[in-house]
Amino acid sequence: MTTMESLIGLVNRIQRACTVLGDYGGAADNNTFSSLWEALPSVAVVGGQSSGKSSVLESIVGRDFLPRGSGIVTRRPLVLQLHKLESGSQEYAEFLHLPRRKFTDFAVVRQEIQDETDRVTGKTKQISPIPIHLSIYSPNVVNLTLIDLPGLTKVAVEGQPESIVQEIETMVRSYVEKPNCIILAISPANQDIATSDAIKLAKEVDPTGERTFGVLTKLDLMDKGTNALDVLEGRSYRLLHPWVGIVNRSQADINRNVDMIVARRKEREYFATSSDYGHLANKMGSEYLAKLLSQHLESVIRARIPSITSLINKSIDELESEMDHLGRPIALDAGAQLYTILELCRAFERIFKEHLDGGRPGGDR
Ligand code: GDP
Ligand code: NA
Ligand code: MG
Repeated sequence: MTTMESLIGLVNRIQRACTVLGDYGGAADNNTFSSLWEALPSVAVVGGQSSGKSSVLESIVGRDFLPRGSGIVTRRPLVLQLHKLESGSQEYAEFLHLPRRKFTDFAVVRQEIQDETDRVTGKTKQISPIPIHLSIYSPNVVNLTLIDLPGLTKVAVEGQPESIVQEIETMVRSYVEKPNCIILAISPANQDIATSDAIKLAKEVDPTGERTFGVLTKLDLMDKGTNALDVLEGRSYRLLHPWVGIVNRSQADINRNVDMIVARRKEREYFATSSDYGHLANKMGSEYLAKLLSQHLESVIRARIPSITSLINKSIDELESEMDHLGRPIALDAGAQLYTILELCRAFERIFKEHLDGGRPGGDR
């Protein structure tokens, strides 16, 4: 792993440990944990219902594990942390609500997301802002936090209260308005871009477009004789970052269990052989999007390292004094988590000191 990967990986693990600590109401000021959590960028998908949000996230991860389909399938935020392991390591997933259980079958992961969604919302079309936290550990991922969100909608469907439209928007907004949130604004190519809810919201919370990536899905579903070049080439709607066109699996592909590797190959072939998009083929598709995102993330983190480092130094002080107070009764798990966070912070500080020239460590410890 590169130094950058190690550092990003450590912050990722610090965030995870902070999440596990969760509602621990100890003397350590909870701000320590929330600022650590918010120090690093995460990527959230925004878009209308069935625009392909969950499909795009799956492609980025390169694994099938999210519930997808028509209608409102994603009904709670899914905070997905990807942790890169050394090559050759066994891939597995873990839920925050099921500590110590390792999932190696991703079909079971999908089922658990569905069950856990229903556990809170009931088997209805209700939504809940309480996130599900899932971590995937794999040699084939980049260190990244991705957030899958319910789709924006203009009307409540049968069985939903009218207020759901606003509730979804408020929930989505609470994620994308954070300055460290990278927005994947998903719009389907078979709808007019001028009506895109994703673009509308992204424009509101990120007027300069610095943290917005426009993704155009369903290129394969456009009417014959039409194409999306005006959007993809930035003429219809100009974004700071280039638009990326995507062809995800269709519902028929999902029903036939077309796997990720085949889907990616088909997507590559689609662009390579397309008379409309052939000239853009190397800047289109899920793999390109994943690469683009990780490059962007790396540059954002590089720029933030000095502030993350000083935050971590400050946290080390706070955590050390918190550890000093552990003589009084404290939940064993909370103590262990505090210790983990402290160790991770120290490791970050050490690697940072050893390897990074240019940036000076934030403190003089
Ligand atoms: P979400 O509601 O935005 O999360 O959308 P999903 O990822 O669940 O996808 C909704 C439906 O659209 C599913 O049936 C997908 O198979 C289908 N779909 C998504 N993207 C594409 C695409 O690029 N092409 C085709 N043909 N179908 C897609
Ligand atoms: Na859907
Ligand atoms: Mg979804």
